[in-house]
Amino acid sequence: MRLLRAHGWDVVAVARRADRLERLAADTGCEVFVADITSQDDVDALAAHLDTTGGVHALVNNAGGARGLGTVEESSIDDWRWMFEVNVIGTKRVTSALLPVLRKSWTPGTSVDILTVTSVAGYVTYEGGGGYNAAKFAERALVGVLRLELAGEPIRVIDVAPGMVHTEEFSLNRFGGDQAAADKVYENVQEPLSADDIAQAIVGALELPHNVSVEQLTVRPVAQVAQHKVHRGPLVPKGR
Ligand SMILES: NC(=O)c1ccc[n+]([C@@H]2O[C@H](COP(=O)([O-])OP(=O)(O)OC[C@H]3O[C@@H](n4cnc5c(N)ncnc54)[C@H](OP(=O)(O)O)[C@@H]3O)[C@@H](O)[C@H]2O)c1
Repeated sequence: MRLLRAHGWDVVAVARRADRLERLAADTGCEVFVADITSQDDVDALAAHLDTTGGVHALVNNAGGARGLGTVEESSIDDWRWMFEVNVIGTKRVTSALLPVLRKSWTPGTSVDILTVTSVAGYVTYEGGGGYNAAKFAERALVGVLRLELAGEPIRVIDVAPGMVHTEEFSLNRFGGDQAAADKVYENVQEPLSADDIAQAIVGALELPHNVSVEQLTVRPVAQVAQHKVHRGPLVPKGR
């Protein structure tokens, strides 16, 4: 969001917590809209607002996350429901609501874009990943189907799948607020990705020439070559 603003985009940031959005608006000059993407009323209000205030040229579906690391057998149904509600159904709801606005905002010689932040958890399963894997596999399926269904329209459907990103709250939420457990995820990993790194990938994909569609972009820190293979310690060339 900050990087899009820095590149001159008019951005409407959407989230549930108004206080954080207001700080973001003060820092960056973005517009804000308080909405819960699990609420149809909120998302309808968002679409109506955007339709009457300048339209939308790129939708970034970023809201999402993980709850818990329990086994399939023992993990909480409520956690699974939350993960499906926000990652899958939330993405579907916002996409459905904004597609008419995106189409209306298109001008000849451009594309309009739907970029969804999925996850490498949508490619490969791992123990304890159950609900998050299932939700991110489903979200990636949604994106793949959408791309096929929009064939023939000037709409790029982009899937950015991050690996390990050290954001403020992702692991904290996953571990139910346990900061020590959240910190352990990134312990001794040389330069996990930051939100800024993912922002560069997002902005890079959106700013490519309009006829160039990055369908899938997997972005990991150099220290992580697979979910199960994270190097802890310094990264050093062999023999040095
Ligand atoms: N961090 C990682 O390692 C990682 C790796 C791969 C993929 N991802 C994916 O990247 C995306 C962003 O993750 P993150 O690490 O930035 O997580 P985060 O720090 O927990 O941020 C999630 C953002 O989504 C918003 N949000 C959550 N639920 C929402 C809802 N129901 N309605 C509207 N907004 C909502 C939150 O704001 P409010 O709480 O104020 O609503 C917050 O701004 C997610 O889709 C996540 O699955 C993250």
